Amino acid sequence: MNFEMLKTEIHGRVALVRLDRPSALNALCDQLMGELGTALRDFDADPAIGAIVLTGSDRAFAAGADIREMQSRSYPDTAMNDFIGATWEVVTTIRKPVIAAVAGYALGGGCELAMMCDMIIAADTAKFGQPEINLGVIPGAGGTQRLTRAIGKSKAMDMVLTGRMMDATEAERANLVARVVPAGELVAEALRVATTIASLSPVAVALAKRSVSRAFETTLAEGVAYERAVFLALFGTPHQREGMAAFLEKRKPDFI
Ligand code: HXC
Repeated sequence: MNFEMLKTEIHGRVALVRLDRPSALNALCDQLMGELGTALRDFDADPAIGAIVLTGSDRAFAAGADIREMQSRSYPDTAMNDFIGATWEVVTTIRKPVIAAVAGYALGGGCELAMMCDMIIAADTAKFGQPEINLGVIPGAGGTQRLTRAIGKSKAMDMVLTGRMMDATEAERANLVARVVPAGELVAEALRVATTIASLSPVAVALAKRSVSRAFETTLAEGVAYERAVFLALFGTPHQREGMAAFLEKRKPDFI
């Protein structure tokens, strides 16, 4: 795939997507988000890919939506042109797991983009924040909702109302990230996690992702009922027979 603001690589069954707009610390302009949507959709449709890693540079995952592009927008313009809508929502529609590998700044829309992914692996250099309040606005791509669900009300208020940044240690303590690794090992670690996931049953992985995501969108009773239905449905797949047979035969399962 050829993009101007992204680089993509294939590592076995894992696609690595690197945000690549160094002149603006990967500020998320319309073109970059459009390219990201295309890349994610294409990898989602490719049966040779089992998981996706999304990363930025050592200095920035992404320093937010592009302030230069947003500055002159008017209200009718934002309302009538589906600003944020289609391009940003793509990330949340991907069936395969997307791992955010975050080094440096993940601010504003950058933090929101990381939170739209299924898990965040952070470098010890990562800095998360929702600084929109300093610009006279508020988060607009789910930040007030996903951050609050991830780290709780009091800390989310602290972040959103003051615009301060949180370092990787605090982010791990607050459950915003799954794990923290030395910066030099970030992409390798994310690829390792993604490779493990991509070796498993694609249908079980997709439904496990959907089931965990359900926890944020429904009641406990409905979520548990959904999980049960998915669990039972997986008995209709060859992967359930292969996984359980492999365990009993003391061998590695072959899902792919
Ligand atoms: C456009 C940006 C940018 C952004 C950085 N740049 N962030 N351009 N939009 N969000 C540009 C700078 O203008 C500068 O370009 C270059 O990147 C390097 O940035 P510096 O500020 O010179 O670097 P540094 O001093 O190291 O400071 C890094 C920083 C700072 C702390 C990350 O850049 C910063 O505060 N950026 C803005 C962060 C922010 O407010 N994000 C939220 C945006 S609103 P030049 O051309 O001068 O070299 C948002 C809403 C989302 O995200 C809503 C959903 C769509």
